[in-house]
Amino acid sequence: MTRLRLCLATALRYAVLEQVRNRLALALAVFFVPVWVGLAHTAMPTAPVRFFLRAADQDVTVAGNVLTQLSGAVHALALIVGFMMFLAARRSAAFDHRLVTAGYPRACLVLAKYLALLLACLLVAGYATAWICVFWRPEQPALLAAALGAGALTYGGAGIMLAALLRSELAGMFLVIMASFVDVSLQNPIANAGADSPVLRWLPTYGAMQSAVVAADTHHLPWAHLGLALLWALTTAAVGTAAFTLHTRSRLGALRRTWRLPPLRHRVYRRAGVDDPELRAGYETCRRLVRRSGQTDYAVTQLVPTPLRPLLWAMYGHGRVLDDLSDSGRADATERIDAWVRAMEEDLARGTSTDPVRRALTHAVTTWDLPTEQLPASFATYRQDAAERPDFTSWEQWHAYWHALSFPVGVTRLATLLGEATGTRLGPRDAEALRRWTDAFNLVDALRDLRQDARLGRVALPLPVLAAHGVHLADLRTGRRTPQLDALVRELAVTAHGWLDDAAGLADRHPVLAASWRTLIRLQRLQLRALERGRPLSGGRRCAGSFRRALVLHTGRLRAARYWRRLGPVLAPAQGAPVPAPPPPVAPAVPRPRPAEPPLPPRPHAGGARPPAGLGDRVPRHVAIIMDGNGRWAAERGLPRSRGHGAGQAALRDVVYGALELGIPHLTLYGLSTENWKRPAAEVEEILRLLGEGADADREEVFARDVRLWWSGLPEGLPAGLLDVLESTVRRTGHRRGLTLTLCVNYGGRAEITAAARELARDVADGGLRPSAVTAPLFARYLHQPTLPDVDLLIRTGGDHRLSNFLPWQAAYAELVFLDTLWPDLDRTGLWRAVETYARRERRFGGLGEAAAQGRIEST
Ligand code: IPE
Ligand code: IPE
Ligand code: MG
Repeated sequence: MTRLRLCLATALRYAVLEQVRNRLALALAVFFVPVWVGLAHTAMPTAPVRFFLRAADQDVTVAGNVLTQLSGAVHALALIVGFMMFLAARRSAAFDHRLVTAGYPRACLVLAKYLALLLACLLVAGYATAWICVFWRPEQPALLAAALGAGALTYGGAGIMLAALLRSELAGMFLVIMASFVDVSLQNPIANAGADSPVLRWLPTYGAMQSAVVAADTHHLPWAHLGLALLWALTTAAVGTAAFTLHTRSRLGALRRTWRLPPLRHRVYRRAGVDDPELRAGYETCRRLVRRSGQTDYAVTQLVPTPLRPLLWAMYGHGRVLDDLSDSGRADATERIDAWVRAMEEDLARGTSTDPVRRALTHAVTTWDLPTEQLPASFATYRQDAAERPDFTSWEQWHAYWHALSFPVGVTRLATLLGEATGTRLGPRDAEALRRWTDAFNLVDALRDLRQDARLGRVALPLPVLAAHGVHLADLRTGRRTPQLDALVRELAVTAHGWLDDAAGLADRHPVLAASWRTLIRLQRLQLRALERGRPLSGGRRCAGSFRRALVLHTGRLRAARYWRRLGPVLAPAQGAPVPAPPPPVAPAVPRPRPAEPPLPPRPHAGGARPPAGLGDRVPRHVAIIMDGNGRWAAERGLPRSRGHGAGQAALRDVVYGALELGIPHLTLYGLSTENWKRPAAEVEEILRLLGEGADADREEVFARDVRLWWSGLPEGLPAGLLDVLESTVRRTGHRRGLTLTLCVNYGGRAEITAAARELARDVADGGLRPSAVTAPLFARYLHQPTLPDVDLLIRTGGDHRLSNFLPWQAAYAELVFLDTLWPDLDRTGLWRAVETYARRERRFGGLGEAAAQGRIEST
């Protein structure tokens, strides 16, 4: 109860503040009302008008100027209050939606709006009555005020209703003006000789007008007409509440909007392969969350290829919900985040959700194979943020905080998808460019929100930077631009421009991405220039210079779309609806992708073996195999070693089918090690020839299944033909999602780590990377395949018990299974047995594990 009261008090304060900030409405109320009633009284003829007044059930004679003054007062108040409520409800709509999403009681928001409306009506009605009394004395001033207030209440409720129903501000205002004009002028006996027609009883201000005239001239109390006026006020209030509820109910609202999806949005979902209306509703909720976050946020999603947009909406929308929760200032914000995290984990395990945002993210995780390893770290940051927003004492802290929040799960994956689609390999330097842009984005945001943040007692900048310029929180709260504040903004703008310069290199490295990337950088520079020119730090998320911004964004979109159009089939998920064939390529840089064909099911086992059932979630996510024993297999049969390698190909195919049947998402095979070059050249050549044959999607039937190929290793020393085959099969199977088959060719764990360290050292030396930013996840981005997940199960055939330099980074916590079977003798049943062994093992990752933890609980 106390919490509800508190929420209501806060919401009411904001509702009233919103009205007070509407200076135009205040000016209209203060000056327009006296001018209108004054002019009507003095300039209109005083000639008496005789008409039938239904509320008094008699003919009355009222001076013409008094009649015009009364109808003018009703009209003026209806217009002013309708305008006030419409504008306030519209301007707070985004914030209200975010509050409701964050768990703020909707009832408090609605009640606060109507209390503010009531207050506004009381004040303006009292004020207008007082001005009327300056010119003549009505018989019942209190009744006159009540009548004027009731008319205003009706239009105020209508304003709230229109704000929830209409998209355009202009349309809303036009409707209020037209409706009130028709409504009031039809009832004026001077303007309309038939003003006593019974039809007019249905007009919204009929009760108010009748009561006002009664109050002017008689002692009669028109209960019925006053009641009618209140009924109209209650009706518009009820419709307004319903519209507001619908507007802020994410699920229903989203569904409603999905039904009315504009054709272009339909196309986005079609190309992304999202057909289910519920799923679309989830993505739409996310999209609207992004849109409400700000124009630049939304622009990012507009600049990626169409099929990837829903992925970005889901990632961003999910982050927005957590952000809102952590910023809600609620005492139970951390518990709510915990509950959200638990629900998210369950949803990910189930593969769907009842919540629209989680449903979209769950779908995105499986569709685009998002790595979920970074989720716990980002959850922890939001949680800590909810408990206490940290003060930044250095730029390092500032960077670390924003990177954890705004570099969320999936950005790396998105970069990889773009890289795969464009045939360019996005490396760690590109990731760093992305970070730099994000830094500039966050800095612009922090500057824009300075005043708002300061009012909440915090500031999203390192405190020493403020102190160095002599800027204090108290100055910021006033919102005034002092010379110190201007100097601070200028200096930080230079910093942000520098970060954008750093980020710009990505466009030169990858011409296909250049249009999007340059547009994003230009948009940020526009924002910065607006801030430098002294745009008030008011906290709004709208951008200054809308026209220039729109021009930059839309020309950038057009340019980018020219490239993206050719990539659609590569980017669309395999399950998606058929994608139209791409137009001929504009430039030869990007090979034309093949239209996606539905993959064949895995070939059944020769002996009819079926995969083991009941493994549930104990199927490993990543199995890696050292395929050893080919030479001995051949030797046992008196054959040359090359025959052993050839026989290994059949085993490989069967194991891939076994992995598909069991639903293992990642299978990594050791094809040739960096140490295998020590063997006779003829043997190495034979192995390379077989690997080339096996990786060729045109010759190898494995790639007609739901299998995509990745390869890992050093290209140096490998024949150009083999590299071509590997790269082209990687591209051609990039849209498949069933099994990711990573072939390690010329691979050595130490070589991989050394190459990563070399690249990382180069970036640090260039100044593009701070040593303090080097963490294990960052290091992993420098490896051959940055998104290859950790190995769960590592199998070695051939009887030897060693790792032979295979995946030392990724297999740091793998379960090892050594089989005596020689590789050519293995088939999928061997893989399944190893998986069953794995499923029986307890993985502790340095913790205590279930059994030990159980024992500990029992012994306490
Ligand atoms: C592993 O089999 C395959 C490759 C190295 C390509 P081996 O050729 O090492 O077979 P063994 O260990 O000599 O039996
Ligand atoms: C490991 O097998 C390499 C591959 C399976 C490709 P090796 O047979 O080369 O390993 P060692 O030399 O016995 O350790
Ligand atoms: Mg061997």
